[in-house]
Amino acid sequence: MMTTTENRQGLTPAILEFIESCKTREHPESFLIAVLHKVQEEFGYLSREHLDEVAHLLSIPTSYVFGVATFYHFFRLQPQGKYSISVCLGTACFVKGADKVLEAFQNHLGIGMGETTKDGLFSLTNTRCLGVCGLAPVVMVNDKVYGQVTPQQVPEILNRIKKEIENEAAGQEDDTE
Ligand code: FES
Repeated sequence: MMTTTENRQGLTPAILEFIESCKTREHPESFLIAVLHKVQEEFGYLSREHLDEVAHLLSIPTSYVFGVATFYHFFRLQPQGKYSISVCLGTACFVKGADKVLEAFQNHLGIGMGETTKDGLFSLTNTRCLGVCGLAPVVMVNDKVYGQVTPQQVPEILNRIKKEIENEAAGQEDDTE
């Protein structure tokens, strides 16, 4: 007979074990967020299959699990791009026009908040105060901080990153020669 700890839909044995331990406690559904964190830690995002599987294993309706995953901004429903662009929407950045900067990224990349471009290069998210309000509005691309960003600078930032990608690819070709 198949048990719930058998490998289903790619959840790792460690996650399955964690879910099993949650099920032995009172109100296993209250561990949903902890389970989703573990899945995201492992896979970098929450796939539809994983949400279905977590719902099944915890005996919670999939619509509820999906609702929780979309409600909290720290959960990602798509794989992260190679470059993660995070626009600060904290108060200082917001009053200096961060929403317009975000809009410019959305327009230039053709994606919405929390989405990744089809080529897998860019993901777009927002964040709360990054602690460098003096540089508002602030954008982080992976671990690099861009300060006093205007919507007009957005294409330039993206071009700079694309150049970096090209140089990296050229460097790799040189290595193989
Ligand atoms: S509000 Fe954006 S860095 Fe503080």
